[in-house]
Amino acid sequence: MRNVLKYILFFQLSGNRVLILIQNLRLSLKVFLSLFIVILFLIFSSISQPVIALSNDKLEGESLFIEHCSGCHVNGGNIIRRGKTLKLKALKRNSLDDPKAIAKIARVGIGSMSGYEDVLGEGGDQLVANWIWSQAQNAWIHG
Ligand code: HEC
Repeated sequence: MRNVLKYILFFQLSGNRVLILIQNLRLSLKVFLSLFIVILFLIFSSISQPVIALSNDKLEGESLFIEHCSGCHVNGGNIIRRGKTLKLKALKRNSLDDPKAIAKIARVGIGSMSGYEDVLGEGGDQLVANWIWSQAQNAWIHG
């Protein structure tokens, strides 16, 4: 801004001042706009990053479930033991209404169900458990 004022004073004598003033304004507007866009971009990318990570986790949890659990627990049910479903009511009844408890079962199994630690991979137990837990809270109506 100080530069702009200097230019105005300098060119007042030459009669070109209006033109110079407009040019300077245009220039600072351009700089301002590009800074604004860069800042917007930075804010947007820092906000959207965790959202993308979140939905990736969800997708991964779902695909792990489809691959390793849905054979017996289709739609959160249980084709072998009718009372041992992944629905909220059964999970609460069996004190498994918490993703950590579900993750443990995913890893080591329970009763006649064997554990899936080997195939779920690093952190896969927690991902699939989180997904099951959110499905249970939505009564398994989203897929
Ligand atoms: C081969 C069939 C089969 C597969 C595959 C299977 N389960 Fe199970 N699941 C069972 C059976 C049977 C039970 C009941 C076990 C018992 O209590 O004797 C059970 C019980 C559970 C329970 C306890 C439910 C309750 O209401 O008490 C959870 C949680 C669970 N399974 C999670 C999983 C997860 C997570 C996967 C995938 C990683 C999985 N299961 C894969 C057969 C299976």
